[in-house]
Amino acid sequence: MGVRAVRLLRALAVASVLGAWAVIVLGGYVSQTESGLGCSEPISCGTPTNPLNPGAAVIESAHRAAAWIEGLVVLAMLILVWRGYRSWGAVRNLTTFAFGLVVLQATLGIVAVATALNPLVVTAHLGVATGFLAVTVLNAAIIYRGAPPTSAAESAPPSGTPHSG
Ligand code: HEM
Repeated sequence: MGVRAVRLLRALAVASVLGAWAVIVLGGYVSQTESGLGCSEPISCGTPTNPLNPGAAVIESAHRAAAWIEGLVVLAMLILVWRGYRSWGAVRNLTTFAFGLVVLQATLGIVAVATALNPLVVTAHLGVATGFLAVTVLNAAIIYRGAPPTSAAESAPPSGTPHSG
């Protein structure tokens, strides 16, 4: 993998951190404006549930749309890392973990809606969100600490990783 792939990985890493932050802030806004049940469908939103407050569906939809975009960013990182940086253990593991967390988080969000905002589910949703942000920040820090690879070999992690001592 070349320098362009490293740049792409770094850009995706930054995007994953900013995206996680944005989804969390939007989630807080959903919660504070009591918009969590603003959509009639748990995944696609459907129609606004409250004609007197159609803005709730817009706020909830924005949170979901940001979450799906964040999921795609993490998926792109997952593919890039497994194709080109599989031997970079910390990054491979953190990226895979981040993808698992984003899938779990989306599932919890859907269950939160389906259970009419069950407090335990919503609390789990908040708990996973904080862990997810931590994982994306740590992963981005490690990716930035490594220098671009000097070899085109797939298996060579960027120098400056723990492999090089
Ligand atoms: C990367 C993915 C996601 C992250 C990081 C995330 C994060 C958050 C956060 C931090 C909150 C505020 C929780 C609180 O204040 O207690 C929240 C609220 C919420 N999220 Fe998500 N979320 C994600 C995806 C989703 C998805 C895919 C859905 C639904 C399909 C969803 C549905 C909700 C709902 C309904 C609330 C409002 C809960 C309430 O009113 O108390 N979330 N989210």
